[in-house]
Amino acid sequence: MAAAAAAAAHVLVFPFPLQGHINCMLPFATALAAAGVLVTFLHSDHNLRRLGPASTPDGPHSQRLRFLSVPDGLPDNDPRSVGGLLELVESLQAVASVAFRALLASLLSTKSPSRADHHDAADSGSGFPPVSCVVADGYLPWAIDVADELAVPVLAFHTSSACSILAFLSAPRLFELGDLPFPAGGDLDEPVHGVPGMESFLRRRDLPSSFRRAGEHGVNPRLRVLVKDTSRSSGKARALIFNTADSLERSALAHIAPHMRDVFAVGPLHAMFPAAAIAKSLWREDDGCVAWLDGQADRSVVYVSLGSLAVMSHEQFTEFLSGLVAAGYPFLWVLRPDMVGASQDAVFQEVARATGDGDQARVVAWAPQRDVLRHRAVGCFLTHAGWNSILEAVLEGVPMVCWPFFADQQINSRFVGAVWRNGLDMKDVCERAVVEKTVREAMESDETRQSAEALAEQVKRDIADGGSSAMEFKRLVSFIRELSS
Ligand code: UDX
Repeated sequence: MAAAAAAAAHVLVFPFPLQGHINCMLPFATALAAAGVLVTFLHSDHNLRRLGPASTPDGPHSQRLRFLSVPDGLPDNDPRSVGGLLELVESLQAVASVAFRALLASLLSTKSPSRADHHDAADSGSGFPPVSCVVADGYLPWAIDVADELAVPVLAFHTSSACSILAFLSAPRLFELGDLPFPAGGDLDEPVHGVPGMESFLRRRDLPSSFRRAGEHGVNPRLRVLVKDTSRSSGKARALIFNTADSLERSALAHIAPHMRDVFAVGPLHAMFPAAAIAKSLWREDDGCVAWLDGQADRSVVYVSLGSLAVMSHEQFTEFLSGLVAAGYPFLWVLRPDMVGASQDAVFQEVARATGDGDQARVVAWAPQRDVLRHRAVGCFLTHAGWNSILEAVLEGVPMVCWPFFADQQINSRFVGAVWRNGLDMKDVCERAVVEKTVREAMESDETRQSAEALAEQVKRDIADGGSSAMEFKRLVSFIRELSS
């Protein structure tokens, strides 16, 4: 019976089409395939084109994993960066949702989708049975609705931290208690009381960034919609899947679980199931920076990366640059082409000038981040506190300096600074003297390094055989097989 159910399980995995979401949902899809489940991974047409032929699966489980795509509705030259995120959200809702409904309907019959309608990157897909379950990104509530309407069991995958989702789910209580909206011009260091388990350390400034906007401009209608959609779609899902570990977010997970049908904490997925054989980067990785790191002393380098979406003003860039130079350590800085207003060449030249054209700095457009964080030369990570970046640094025991930018990053960085104590939270400050001092402290503090190393050990236990994440993943595979039988 179990074998028959396993043969029938075919999961459609649909991430929000951005780098940070692909980076954890792709290892998840690979892991399902490795566990014997058939998986269709749904990209946007734009991303699948950018990933190119290397996105075709390779390796032992490739016959169980295929890639399809739907349009995101934006022109190809749209940067799809944080400035245009709302356009992407709206365009997906208007265009991708229609294509998704048609695709899912076709995948529910035994007939494979026609190549003319959907880009099929892998021939291995033909012969897949009908889709038996959908795992949709929690930030695609309409995808959860569509699956539900077509009577397919659907699970919501949250690529953000559990603590940030708990904050969203707590929004009604925050309004009820008067924590929200913030009074105009009010003190952002005031504690907030409405997020369970976080009363002793959460301040207004640590809530996800959309809550803050609610304070500046009255109750932001977009926040209301976001909160409503997240809660509604999470409630509709058969289960919530988190890319987190019990030892990191036990309390948040425990507060979410009673309100959901089921909750699975199966991360950090990149470490449990590296999808090495499949291209996942939308930018070309500059491998030269690893050779540069090879020439640096142990724990001497500051790695600076603000993820795939954050952009900074030229003024902020200058403050960071001056602070990094003054801190005196060599640094490796990822500056994507769309990241600072000025042209990339000009920005790279400014870094070269500030460091006297010497070897103190290496600037790249995109780094192989996991290899960098694993490198013995890296002493600390100046990060925007995106959830993938945090998990990647946690696993390597690298101390962090957090400069959160938006979304869940504000609450993630509070956990780094005040709960796990594996780094320092520089939120809302962008001054060269503070950058210099905070970087020095992260590089030199034995206490922070010890906390980072202890946390890495704990999380490694979670993902090892018999650990909580490994066990939860097994339970999830059984759950999906049961839903599919
Ligand atoms: C976003 C949100 O910021 C994040 O908080 C949310 O949880 C997921 O979506 P992003 O801003 O890109 O993602 O940050 P992050 O979650 O850290 O993901 C960035 C990914 O890109 C990481 O996996 C990182 O390893 C990778 N990366 C980044 C590279 O491979 N090379 C780089 O040079 C920079």
